[in-house]
This record gives sequence, structure tokens and C-alpha cells, in this order.
Amino acid sequence: MAGKKLLIKHAAELITCAGPAPKQGPAMGDIGMIPDGALLAEDGRISWVGPTAALPALDESQWEVIDAAGQCVLPGFVDSHTHMVFGGYRAEEFFWRLSGTPYLEILERGGGILNTVEATRAASLAELKELAGRRLRSMLAMGVTTVEGKSGYGLDKETELRQLAVMAELNREQPVEIVPTFMGAHAVPPEYKGRTDAYVDYLIAEVLPAVSAQGIAEFCDVFCEQGVFSLAQSRRLLTAAKGLGLKAKLHADEIVALGGAELAAELEACSADHLLQASAAGIAALGKKRTVATLLPMTAFCLREPYARARAMIDSGVAVALATDYNPGSCFSHSIPLVAALAAIQLGMTPAEVVTALTINGAAAVNRADRVGSLEVGKQADAVILEYPSHLFLVYHAGMNLVDKVIKQGQLSWS
Ligand code: NIG
Ligand code: FE
Repeated sequence: MAGKKLLIKHAAELITCAGPAPKQGPAMGDIGMIPDGALLAEDGRISWVGPTAALPALDESQWEVIDAAGQCVLPGFVDSHTHMVFGGYRAEEFFWRLSGTPYLEILERGGGILNTVEATRAASLAELKELAGRRLRSMLAMGVTTVEGKSGYGLDKETELRQLAVMAELNREQPVEIVPTFMGAHAVPPEYKGRTDAYVDYLIAEVLPAVSAQGIAEFCDVFCEQGVFSLAQSRRLLTAAKGLGLKAKLHADEIVALGGAELAAELEACSADHLLQASAAGIAALGKKRTVATLLPMTAFCLREPYARARAMIDSGVAVALATDYNPGSCFSHSIPLVAALAAIQLGMTPAEVVTALTINGAAAVNRADRVGSLEVGKQADAVILEYPSHLFLVYHAGMNLVDKVIKQGQLSWS
């Protein structure tokens, strides 16, 4: 709202995450903490950040004032990898996996992602929008101010475009900013079973051009995995997508070490995601590029797969982001607190690295590090206020939602 001005003062810790993005390697530990910090926002943007004692003189009656004494203020969280627009649920599948049936075997038998494809094809735009809108409200309550969302439960032109249209409409109607990704290469639909190359041809000839003509996706993602899309098929699709102005993302080395990390580096993808099985060579290749490694520890947790080697990545100069992977199959959770706890406890990341990974590096993973992800003058005023005085509580108060207030573009959007 034009003219609306916001003052936050006396934050026990104001975490800025300022500096060049993405933060790579040791720089991930630098979160730019200001004790007893303050922030001013005007017209949705940050106009001043610093210690409360140094605030410029102002008439507080003209400002919406938040006294954050005893609280920690952080940049709004960026959940840079979700599949949040879908129909139906797969509760039984979770328990099949627990009793030993592998994730990829369920998909091979026509279940898994393909089960959700059936339900999503059958759902109307209004139904998908109602479901996704509810999910977004729940994400906002956990401090998410920007979220990436993928198509990929249509696997035909009409339904893929419908999923993307849901995101476009919701983007105009609620506070959480949605970054749309086209993921037509999420699985091979039944009508192309056994003809994966022909399906990739169809995506390139029919679907990508329509997505690009409508301007409703910024990224193209592919499930580069054994028995799904090969390295060559992934390279072919992402190269075509880049030719149409879409940026590349990959589900890489999630279950089998195929060389997805190496391909992401070769294509200078914006992000390589999952990486549970990434090889040493793949990690080294990512360390030489600005490609963000987006780690999704809740998926490893739910699939009982080994965790990604976050320490080796950070120590090799890789920029690491953390995201939820929220989807109805491999990870039916968008819990930022659980991601933070697993990242520290299982991935060995420090609390400061966790904060960087959920904010500025998440912003870089969705090509928005110039606008969101840190509390710096000129950036969008997207912030989270925790009910505890330090960012350490994000990990220490394990799995709990600590968010007291959420600010989006200078507006109090959740409390
Ligand atoms: O990131 N692995 C592929 N895609 C999702 C899971 C989607 C699903 O199971 O519905 C993932 O894990
Ligand atoms: Fe995913």
C-alpha cells in the first residue's frame, strides 16, 4: 500500500544476511547480525537498517511501530523448491515405502507421481487454486514470504498450463510471492510409457513453446533420475528451455548417482536440487559455478535415504540453499522448522549456515537475490519476527514454529 511506513526497533538480533549472493563456502556463516537492531520500510522497500540507537529522528505517530524487544528479526524465508499445486493425496504410499517398497518401484508400477497426475488432471482450476491457496497460508505462518512452485502433475499441455495458471492467479491474490517452474519432465505419462524420447520431443515441440508464449514460467526443471529422464534427455530439454528464455533447474542425483550435479554445472543451471548421491566430482564441479545446491533434507528423512553431504559442499565453495520439497509423495510437509532442525542435526550445518540457506541463498536459487533474501536498503521489506531472541532457537526449539509475525513488502501479513 503506497505511503504505508513501518518501523521495527529493539530487535534482540536483527539478522541482515547482507552481502554478495549467493553466499558460497565459508561466507555462508556470515549472517550480518545487528544486536538491538532496527529497520525502516517505506512503500514496501527497506529504507534504513542499523542499531536502534542510531535510528534517524522520526515522528513515530506517522509510522506503524513494532517493538521487537526479546525477538529475532530475519529476512523472510524463501522456500525455493516445492510442488504445491496438486490434486489428491498418497497416504498409503508412505506406508508401502516404510514396509520396504522403493519409491522408484512404485513409480515404475504406475503409482507415485502418476497417481497424483491422475488426480490433478481431474481437478479444475478452481479446485487446485483453493487447495494451493490454503497451503500458501500455512506456509506464510511459518515465515515463508517467497515460494517456488512446480508444475509436473499434468504431463500434458492442458494440465501443465492449468497448474501454472493457478500460480499466476494466486500470485495476484495473496501475499506470498510464487516463482513458477515448468516441470513437464517430472515423469513419463502413461500414454508415452516406454517412449521417453518421444515424450521429450512432445514437450519441446508442443508444451515448452506454449509455456513460453504465455510467459507463465521462469524456470524449467527435470527429474533427471535412473528410469525417469536420462542425462541426455535432461540436457536436450533444458537446452531447448534455455533457448526460450527459461532458466534451468534439475532434480539431480536424488536416488541414484547419475551425474546430475555435473550436468547442472555444465548447463550453469540456477540450481541443482536434492544431490543426496552427488559424487565428489559433481560437488567439485558445482563449487566452480554459481549454481546453487538446494538441499531438501525432509525428503531424505521421509524416504529414509542418506542425507546430502552438505559439509563437503560448503567446504568446497558450493552455495547451499535449503528448501522443503513440499509434495504429496516423497515429502508431504512444508515445515521450515523441521528443515532447519534436520539441516543442523543431520547435515552438520551451523545455525548461521541454516539461516543463509533459507534466505539469501534460497533467493539466489530462484533468481531473486537482487530483490529478496536479505535485509538491505532498497530491497523488498520481507521479514520474519521470531518469538525468541536468537536465530539459534530455529534449530534448538526443534521442529516448532517460532514465527510471531511476518512482514511482506512492508505490510504485517501474518501474526
Ligand atoms: O522432489 N523426485 C521427484 N519429484 C518430487 C517428488 C514428487 C512426488 O513424489 O510426487 C521430489 O522428491
Ligand atoms: Fe522436488
